[in-house]
Amino acid sequence: MMLFGFVGLAVAVVANVAGAAAASSQLEGLYSLVKRQIPAHAGAFTFELSAANTTNATDTFTLSDIGKNATGNATILIECSTISACARGLYTYVTEFGGVDIWWTGSRLNELPSQLPEIGEPVTRTSLVPYRYHFNTVTFSYTASFYDFDDWSFLLDWLALRGVNLPLAWVGNEYVLVQVFREAGLTDADIATFLSGPAFQAWNRFGNIQGSWGGDLPEQWINDQFVLQKQILARMVELGMTPVLPSFTGFVPRAMHTLYPNASIVNGSQWSTFTIQHTNDSFLEPFDPLFSTLQTSFMTKYAAAYGNVSHIYTLDQYNEMMPYSGNTSYLSSISSATFASLRATDPEAVWMMQGWLFYIYASFWTDERVEAYLGGVPGNDSMIILDLFSEAYPQWQRLNSYFGKQWIWCELHDFGGNMGFEGNFENVTTQPVKALATPGNTMVGMGLTMEGQEGNEIMYDVLFDQAWSPTPINRTSYVSAWTSRRYNVPNLPTAATEAWEILASTVYNNQDPLLQATIKSIFELEPAINGLVNLTVLQGIPTGLFYDTNTTIVPALQSLLQARQESSALDEVPEFQYDVVYIIRQLLANRFIDLYTSLVDTYNSTTSSSSDVSTAGAPLITLLKDVDSVLLTDTHFLLSNWISAARNWAHDNSTYAAYLEYNARNQITLWGPRGEVHDYASKQWGGLVGTYYVQRWEEFVSYLSGSKANGTAYNGTAVADVMFNIGLAWDNETWGQAANETWGTVGNTWDVVQQLVDKYI
Ligand SMILES: *[C@@H]1O[C@H](CO)[C@@H](O)[C@H](O)[C@H]1NC(C)=O
Ligand SMILES: *[C@@H]1O[C@H](CO)[C@@H](O)[C@H](O)[C@H]1NC(C)=O
Ligand SMILES: *[C@@H]1O[C@H](CO)[C@@H](O)[C@H](O)[C@H]1NC(C)=O
Ligand SMILES: *[C@@H]1O[C@H](CO)[C@@H](O)[C@H](O)[C@H]1NC(C)=O
Ligand SMILES: *[C@@H]1O[C@H](CO)[C@@H](O)[C@H](O)[C@H]1NC(C)=O
Ligand SMILES: *[C@@H]1O[C@H](CO)[C@@H](O)[C@H](O)[C@H]1NC(C)=O
Ligand SMILES: *[C@@H]1O[C@H](CO)[C@@H](O)[C@H](O)[C@H]1NC(C)=O
Ligand SMILES: *[C@@H]1O[C@H](CO)[C@@H](O)[C@H](O)[C@H]1NC(C)=O
Ligand SMILES: *[C@@H]1O[C@H](CO)[C@@H](O)[C@H](O)[C@H]1NC(C)=O
Ligand SMILES: *[C@@H]1O[C@H](CO)[C@@H](O)[C@H](O)[C@H]1NC(C)=O
Ligand SMILES: *[C@@H]1O[C@H](CO)[C@@H](O)[C@H](O)[C@H]1NC(C)=O
Ligand SMILES: *[C@@H]1O[C@H](CO)[C@@H](O)[C@H](O)[C@H]1NC(C)=O
Repeated sequence: MMLFGFVGLAVAVVANVAGAAAASSQLEGLYSLVKRQIPAHAGAFTFELSAANTTNATDTFTLSDIGKNATGNATILIECSTISACARGLYTYVTEFGGVDIWWTGSRLNELPSQLPEIGEPVTRTSLVPYRYHFNTVTFSYTASFYDFDDWSFLLDWLALRGVNLPLAWVGNEYVLVQVFREAGLTDADIATFLSGPAFQAWNRFGNIQGSWGGDLPEQWINDQFVLQKQILARMVELGMTPVLPSFTGFVPRAMHTLYPNASIVNGSQWSTFTIQHTNDSFLEPFDPLFSTLQTSFMTKYAAAYGNVSHIYTLDQYNEMMPYSGNTSYLSSISSATFASLRATDPEAVWMMQGWLFYIYASFWTDERVEAYLGGVPGNDSMIILDLFSEAYPQWQRLNSYFGKQWIWCELHDFGGNMGFEGNFENVTTQPVKALATPGNTMVGMGLTMEGQEGNEIMYDVLFDQAWSPTPINRTSYVSAWTSRRYNVPNLPTAATEAWEILASTVYNNQDPLLQATIKSIFELEPAINGLVNLTVLQGIPTGLFYDTNTTIVPALQSLLQARQESSALDEVPEFQYDVVYIIRQLLANRFIDLYTSLVDTYNSTTSSSSDVSTAGAPLITLLKDVDSVLLTDTHFLLSNWISAARNWAHDNSTYAAYLEYNARNQITLWGPRGEVHDYASKQWGGLVGTYYVQRWEEFVSYLSGSKANGTAYNGTAVADVMFNIGLAWDNETWGQAANETWGTVGNTWDVVQQLVDKYI
């Protein structure tokens, strides 16, 4: 029966000969994906592009059995309206029928049963939305600064399978930008004062910062990223994705003021606490004819370097910065000229922007101003706005569905690549469906705009799964299926599923409106006597706990360990080990708050002695060393991964390697030459906790007990100075200087976990 359906469709495609030829070459990317990820079943999958359904532009696929092949195995047909829909169809098969998945910790797709399960009744699915989007501009720095093509290849497979068809593609931007600036007459020295270091390019692209501390951006980096981007774009296209490309934003080196004295160049606003050397970027106003000239130069050179692969362009002018004027006529003149510059070179250009500004500076971006800014761009298909924080602070309702422009429902979830349990399962599953049902909505996609990809993978999976489910996903059944394929062992003990149901109903069911993002542990913050505990998103980074550790983290951990007792096969599952480490890390991080509180109480008490303070401080240090020891046992939690990825770009040049390592270390600690954004992108990594956080807290405890001994009042400035100097020294170290630094793991996870459970539960 199914075979007939399949033949009928194939005939329909073959009738269009040109279309068929195009179609079969387009399918190569899918077959390559199968070969990369499921080599054991390379011959088992057949893809067919069915004629696009113009009545309904959203992607669709149908899975069916073809029959048995020469070896007597089942073979699977995946028909689809687009390449991306086929990839999603393959994912639906491997997850729902095959019981396997591909995770950030690795691909388990090749563990499909040797005898592939049959489908039976064909399965058709349609996406709720035309676009499934991925990335935040800053993900390129917080997560992917030092990615090589193997890392990209893996992530793009992860994305393609989940159905993503609209990824941001920032890599290699500077290769083109430098040519544009040189053509405009700027010297390499002028340009060098503008470009930021390898770990900070995202904010330079946003116009937040300029220049590179610790040394200028080497040309080698720019050239290597060019080569990388060519590979990335080819792969994206092959996987049926439309890359969102950079364009000329208007941010220029300062020397443009003198080179073009009559051009309308204004100073952007200060970002964070950077000094003028590194912020207040010069902004060439788009209505100046020079803007259009540089845009044409950029887009032409981009196409020459990378090919014509997309009509969608990312362009942000006011991310966390104020416009030069709040006049509505000014704002609409900016956007109309910006858009005209894109269309001058690409008549089909669509302008995509991140909507973060409308949330973070909502008081400036009144409805009237947003309407003027978006309204400067003619037509509604001309723009795509990323509603960046839709799970907690959506702006599309307030802004009348962006006054008719297209927009994408995005889950933000993570700041700075921070690690900490958090998720709003309910909103991620119900709100996109509700938004689509709202009369007059102009929502065209669903996406992930996390600042960094860290932990909490289930919250990312469910968003992309929801994009193919017309009704809100049921949490109970979802978690059960998700756990079973995450661990994929025979007879998975129910304790494992129970662990995840505990997490899903608590830490992933976050309903606290002020704590809607990964919760940072206070031990990653600069030690101080106040100001660390119970912070909310309104204070930048949440540290408040919205759940009770003893009734969530503790039983979830105990259940996982119970499952391990019942199935020793779990010891060999990297995802299982990862999850246990992630949970015990959280347990200790939360216990640290109690220890810290009691240290501060002891210090503040008028009757305590210097030695009481030292005694109260000792368990904090022990706990941090314990966190470090468990992180060091698992390959996914190592500082050395981040540092070696940076150094790998150095071409065996030790000066360059040290520069890259400095960039890597500075981002996750001081974040800026003077600690401007310090601890924002902190991580719980083995090697970082042990060498950096331990050192800071040791100094803090010693400061407190010293101050108690000599009777001097607590001086927060003096403490901050001590911490800054620790940061300066640590950032300038190179790997291997400190004792016991190895590139790989240290110790056995299960031994260390058992010790810590005995100690902390
Ligand atoms: C037959 O199908 C199995 C998987 O079901 C696959 O591994 C094998 O490569 C296929 N053989 C041929 C000759 O197509
Ligand atoms: C095209 O989509 C429309 C609307 O969803 C549907 O009614 C129709 O059956 C589809 N046609 C084909 C050939 O799939
Ligand atoms: C397209 O398909 C989706 C999902 O099945 C459906 O919700 C939507 O109404 C369809 N649109 C049209 C125009 O048929
Ligand atoms: C199915 O394919 C596998 C891998 O190619 C092969 O080992 C096996 O003999 C085939 N036949 C059956 C009936 O499983
Ligand atoms: C969930 O989404 C709704 C609708 O957008 C919003 O009003 C609510 O505040 C969100 N919940 C939380 C906890 O942020
Ligand atoms: C979700 O599924 C569970 C178990 O299958 C069921 O008990 C529950 O009622 C469902 N929840 C909703 C909201 O449908
Ligand atoms: C933080 O919040 C918790 C829970 O509401 C509360 O018990 C604790 O006293 C607060 N601590 C501080 C320092 O505000
Ligand atoms: C949680 O458990 C720890 C360790 O048993 C205990 O010290 C603490 O008081 C408990 N906290 C709460 C809020 O029950
Ligand atoms: C401890 O004292 C400092 C001032 O020295 C104060 O800021 C802080 O709130 C006090 N903390 C507690 C818990 O009493
Ligand atoms: C090594 O790297 C430094 C810093 O990027 C650079 O100045 C120098 O020219 C490089 N040396 C060689 C031999 O490439
Ligand atoms: C008193 O204690 C503080 C804090 O530990 C320390 O910075 C300072 O040097 C001490 N002063 C003297 C005179 O020992
Ligand atoms: C606090 O420390 C800072 C930096 O060491 C110093 O400049 C300042 O004078 C100190 N304040 C007091 C009140 O001692």
